[in-house]
Amino acid sequence: MGGIALQEFLWWQQYFSRSDWCAIELIWMDNSACFQPFGKPELLPFILFFTTCSPYTPSMESLYIFGAGEFAQIACSYFTEEGKYDFKGFVIDDEIAESTHITVMGFQVHKYSEIVNKLIETKTKVFVAISATQMNKSRANVYFRLKAEGCRFATYISPMAFVSKHASIGENVFIFEENVVQFGASIANNTILWSGNHIGHQSKIGSHNFFSSHVVVSGFCSIGDYCYFGVNATLVDHLNIASGTLLGAGSLLLGNTENDSVYIGSPAKKLSGRDPYKVVFK
Ligand SMILES: CC(C)(COP(=O)(O)OP(=O)(O)OC[C@H]1O[C@@H](n2cnc3c(N)ncnc32)[C@H](O)[C@@H]1OP(=O)(O)O)[C@@H](O)C(=O)NCCC(=O)NCCS
Repeated sequence: MGGIALQEFLWWQQYFSRSDWCAIELIWMDNSACFQPFGKPELLPFILFFTTCSPYTPSMESLYIFGAGEFAQIACSYFTEEGKYDFKGFVIDDEIAESTHITVMGFQVHKYSEIVNKLIETKTKVFVAISATQMNKSRANVYFRLKAEGCRFATYISPMAFVSKHASIGENVFIFEENVVQFGASIANNTILWSGNHIGHQSKIGSHNFFSSHVVVSGFCSIGDYCYFGVNATLVDHLNIASGTLLGAGSLLLGNTENDSVYIGSPAKKLSGRDPYKVVFK
């Protein structure tokens, strides 16, 4: 192989993970026409070398999920199917270790105290997969604790979501399939977008929020922290949503909200005397 072909291969190599290259090899072996984009079938021996034993091949980053409950297992299925991370197992607090299985989905469940030092020393990424309990405070508390320890966080964006290149996405964010995050929108840390939400252009979403499913946030909205949006909730454009807002399922919000309040109905009205932090999400 000439110098130019090797250079070209090294250039392509930076864009693919080990699993991508293995898939490319298999496709090539099955149907050499599929290799046409590279136009250099003679590169195959080099690809085999680079994907198996070359020090140049980028190795997959390891990942642990904090939590072992329902959301943790769902997150695990998405991360492992995506194949970008080498998923190592779940982490739970020592206090609940006795009431939790030793393995979940075939992966080991580790006690926090036994693994935290390793996570920090090896700079291994963690995803905190705790649902919306207490308006996301439970998840936020763990996120802050791990952050203070020096942990790094993963973010998951489904390949079936549309996220504008002009949008910004924080850490420990999980974006399920069929979400649309438009031009100029931002989503801060530790926020969950379950499937099918619309985050309109230039809307700013704070930290520790939870969007159930099929929520529409129209353009130019500003959303604080610790909010919860029930399924099919709708927000018209240019709203200011205070921290601790809970918008009920199917509700249509036409105006701004007050801190730590529950809104329901169409048009949505404040449910007086209801503390969102005491709502139990089933
Ligand atoms: C808003 C919500 C949290 C209120 O829960 P709650 O505080 O336990 O309230 P209750 O069920 O006791 O209902 C209180 C009143 O509000 C009404 N109400 C509750 N949710 C409503 C909603 N989304 N829209 C309109 N009215 C609603 C109830 O009918 C009830 O009316 P009543 O007093 O006349 O009988 C809850 O109904 C909700 O919408 N949860 C979100 C569910 C969801 O989207 N889950 C997604 C899971 S991924």
